[in-house]
Amino acid sequence: MSLLTTIGYIRRDLNTLRYWSKHQFAMKAMPSSRFVFGRTHKWFMYEVILNYPPVIKKGSWDYRVHRLGNLIYPAWDCALLSHYSPGGRMLRHCDHSVFEPQVVLVNIGQATFCIDDQEYDLHDGQVISFDSSIPHELLPVVSERWSLTYRKIQPQYLRL
Ligand SMILES: [Fe+2]
Repeated sequence: MSLLTTIGYIRRDLNTLRYWSKHQFAMKAMPSSRFVFGRTHKWFMYEVILNYPPVIKKGSWDYRVHRLGNLIYPAWDCALLSHYSPGGRMLRHCDHSVFEPQVVLVNIGQATFCIDDQEYDLHDGQVISFDSSIPHELLPVVSERWSLTYRKIQPQYLRL
């Protein structure tokens, strides 16, 4: 059974989305992370600081992120734009329990994604869904790559 579902592909807006991703300001680094290397990121709608307990703050707002999220993951709570430089990667991990397990990810560029014992080459513009409570990993990217991941926050953490 496949642990990854392809929802569709961004086609018409892909280059615009890539340009938009490339020109984001105030991308943050995670120099002390034990799991993430060569990545900067930016939160939209809510920013979630992945401590125990987690801290949830107001994130950035962007019409493009909002419209795309409503299309591919209705009732999403937060979106994370991540940029990986060549060699950037994410070691095997499960997502924080502050989130509902289902993640919808927009892949911009090329990447190899592993979940459990399955390996997938992600294509430019591919939109996927997976259960982030299953161990998953991003192999080192060979060229610049972005992901825009949409998540729901577990209701007990949401302060509306
Ligand atoms: Fe993850």
